[in-house]
Amino acid sequence: MNRKSFAIVLAALLPIAASTAFAASDGAAVYKTKCASCHGADGSGQTAMGKSLKLRDLGSADVQKQTDKELYSLTADGKGKMPAYKGKLTEADINALVAHMRTMAKK
Ligand code: HEC
Repeated sequence: MNRKSFAIVLAALLPIAASTAFAASDGAAVYKTKCASCHGADGSGQTAMGKSLKLRDLGSADVQKQTDKELYSLTADGKGKMPAYKGKLTEADINALVAHMRTMAKK
């Protein structure tokens, strides 16, 4: 393949690669941008906001004992000062967030 046809193939493939990257929800990335400001990067709630809101550690047994459905609803519908993310995030995003919160469980 010469250089020019390689460039054409590359140009044709790039948008496909970009769209699959966007289709897969990255729970860790969404968490970092939308949730870490209150809940902390590690879910511990040790942020100025988290402390004043008295957030429970997302990795604690009390939070982790809830079902995926409950964690999903808490994120989608909000609770008290916890904002509702339904409409702002897709179902796939919220499912990815629940999976990400499971990685915070204390061993
Ligand atoms: C503005 C600060 C704020 C942001 C941003 C925020 N939360 Fe919360 N979150 C709260 C507060 C406050 C509570 C406690 C609600 C209560 O129990 O009254 C909470 C509770 C929760 C709970 C329940 C934990 C428990 O104690 O059982 C989950 C799950 C949760 N948040 C997930 C998320 C996710 C996922 C995001 C990002 C999409 C997020 N939160 C963003 C403030 C925030």
